Amino acid sequence: MTQSSPARVFADRAEACRILAAELAELVASINASGRPAVLGLATGRTPLPFYAELIRLHRAGQLSFANVVTFNLDEYLGLSADHPESYHAFMRRELFGHVDIPAENIHIPDGTVTDIPAHCAAYEKTIRDAGGIDFQLLGIGRTGHIGFNEPGSPRDSRTRRVELDPITRQDAAPAFGGLENVPTHAISMGCGTILEARKIALLAWGEAKAAIVNEALSGPVTDQVSASFLQQHPDATFYVDADAGARL
Ligand code: PGA
Repeated sequence: MTQSSPARVFADRAEACRILAAELAELVASINASGRPAVLGLATGRTPLPFYAELIRLHRAGQLSFANVVTFNLDEYLGLSADHPESYHAFMRRELFGHVDIPAENIHIPDGTVTDIPAHCAAYEKTIRDAGGIDFQLLGIGRTGHIGFNEPGSPRDSRTRRVELDPITRQDAAPAFGGLENVPTHAISMGCGTILEARKIALLAWGEAKAAIVNEALSGPVTDQVSASFLQQHPDATFYVDADAGARL
């Protein structure tokens, strides 16, 4: 069962993003050519920014259309409405969706303002299933080893649910929120089980601050203490890292 996830180490993040974006454009085109929408799982945070810039560049160059793409974001902060600048709804509009031809009805992001959270999470899972499952899932990795907001202790079979953010994750988000006291304490996140059902997965990591956790996720034990380590057991999960993040491999 165990297969270690391959790591691809690039000179820098720009090169990694260029290669992955070209691969994704090809995947979307081939799925669309087979007569159905491509279903993408998307991530937020600092890491995907150069990747989204490259997707926008390909779109403007006529090499990538989102007209027949359906997206599901990994997570959203609880308590933040879509117009809060630090919400992941706002992030996605600013960094990707506002610049490409994706139909608004094809975009799915958990709603951080719902009152019935379990019902919302179950509906999110059902919408993914009804779309035929995720073809390609983009991931970052937190210093806690989280994928999505699956902090240490998240079970391998966890589904979309309310989660509590780890203190390290909240600390890392503090500058963007202008102080730790403004960082939400909880989020809605796809579970490890939801993520692992994606047919193809790419995890991105840049910079030396990620080197230790990248090494642990790829080479350490498969454990719920490092949710990215579950990717070792996925048949098609690849880490795209720059030289600094790959320095300990
Ligand atoms: P970052 O966050 O991209 O801002 O480093 C990654 C993550 O928490 O998954």
